[in-house]
Amino acid sequence: MDVQTVGSAAAAFGGPAVAVAGGVSLLFLKSFLSHQGGGGNPNHLPFVPEVPGLPLLGNLLQLKEKKPYKTFTKWAETYGPIYSIKTGATSMVVINSNDLAKEALVTKFNSISTRKLSKALKILTADKTMVAMSDYDDYHKTVKRNILTSFLGPTALKKHRLHRDTLLENLSNQLHDMAPNSAQEAVNLRKIFQSQLFTLALKQTFGRDIESIYVSDLGTTMTRDEVFQVLVLDPLMGAIEVDWRDFFPYLSWIPNTNFETKIEQMYMRREAVMKALIQEHKKRIDSGENLNSYIDYLLSEAQPLTEKQLIMSLWEPIIESSDTTMVTTEWAMYELAKNPKKQARLYDEIQSVCGSEKITEEKLCKMPYLAAVFHETLRRHSPVSIIPLRYVHENTELGGYHVPSGTELAINIYGCNMEREIWEDPEDWNPERFLSENEPIDLQRTLAFGGGKRVCAGAMQAMLIACASIGRMVHEFEWSLKDDTGEDINTLGLTTQKLNPMLAVIKPRN
Ligand code: HEM
Repeated sequence: MDVQTVGSAAAAFGGPAVAVAGGVSLLFLKSFLSHQGGGGNPNHLPFVPEVPGLPLLGNLLQLKEKKPYKTFTKWAETYGPIYSIKTGATSMVVINSNDLAKEALVTKFNSISTRKLSKALKILTADKTMVAMSDYDDYHKTVKRNILTSFLGPTALKKHRLHRDTLLENLSNQLHDMAPNSAQEAVNLRKIFQSQLFTLALKQTFGRDIESIYVSDLGTTMTRDEVFQVLVLDPLMGAIEVDWRDFFPYLSWIPNTNFETKIEQMYMRREAVMKALIQEHKKRIDSGENLNSYIDYLLSEAQPLTEKQLIMSLWEPIIESSDTTMVTTEWAMYELAKNPKKQARLYDEIQSVCGSEKITEEKLCKMPYLAAVFHETLRRHSPVSIIPLRYVHENTELGGYHVPSGTELAINIYGCNMEREIWEDPEDWNPERFLSENEPIDLQRTLAFGGGKRVCAGAMQAMLIACASIGRMVHEFEWSLKDDTGEDINTLGLTTQKLNPMLAVIKPRN
């Protein structure tokens, strides 16, 4: 995730970094040389090919076009599927092929299981106090067990089924209300769906949605929209904020007050809102209410957590539920609206399985084309374009090359999903490519959910919600684009959202 920031970093850090360059160049050179030769290489394996860059800055300036995953993919054509770059003083190995990604994520996991976080992520994750950003340690195992037991594992998914069904009903009702006017006022699916996902996350976490809440630490009452801003939108933006010191750790002693104040404010406001939600929930527990939600589990059955750990454990699924599933669903609906023949094929499949009945999660397994639409969307528009950076904590070997400890590892999901040896015409969105398989599609086929022991814990929830929603929307409405808002990607946020929301005209199918 933080590698997404490299592009904007190149622009943002340039001035100050160059200003201090003279004074530290010797120091830098020393660290650079020790890195190249160091780390021990008993088998005398070759070093990973390097992309040439500038002294001191390395390849930072070449990454300033803000879509590093695209630059990485282009470099793979020249330097091969694995190469190394320098982001300032840090060495980073970039992987752009499925086989190498699997080697890193599965076979060599023991040497690459930790994460190195940017300064922004260090603050926002309360120094790795969450499942997705922690190292692979006892804390990780505890909080992952918690989230699987009560939120995302198979039993928990059954428990939250009612909330997912309500999401589908609300989505359908809102769309039916908007359909008659959609030719004049186009439907902005993102707005409706994001709000429904946030409601779902609040119900799973705290047992109920909110309209507003008094936040005593801030001395103010916040609306639901303000809470969404503080819990979801701000941290998504904050996570890619750039601190030029990330690229020059030996300069960390130089203050960067604006940056720190901005991110710490985000952290503080989020903490204040989470505390208010927790306090309110505890009052309901005291009054005898049992909402059987994630917080009830964490407070009663799970191994006791500190206040900070509790806050982070509750916040994590809120932010994870509210974004990536929406990004996938919006891209899928955009592609279907743009491709009437494929939309018709999907409709025919749903109609033949469901007839006049509503689509249910049980019926999803009977609809291979719907599954293919979901997977092809994950491949072509992977919401997370680069796996959150891994950190090589002991010397290892990848693709026959020596990779020394202290290297950062970027697995470019976008690059893997564009690999020509594996995917024919990879730029095309073509669900049919997934239909030739005889067996159900492996959730990890596209690497969109990562892989190995740190594979996405929410993949099943994301698939159930996205497939049921896409199916329901296509079963009940014919979708077309009001204006083609294009395929451009928002480079300001953490995930690869469409730059402009899809604007659709929808016609009920009766
Ligand atoms: C289409 C939707 C989603 C995509 C594409 C996605 C993608 C990812 C990726 C790429 C990773 C990193 C894997 C790695 O480091 O190897 C990840 C981790 C994770 N995701 Fe998701 N995710 C999605 C939905 C969700 C949802 C809905 C939740 C929870 C509500 C969730 C919870 C998590 C957690 C807890 C981890 C950390 C797993 C670990 O480190 O052990 N994800 N996800």
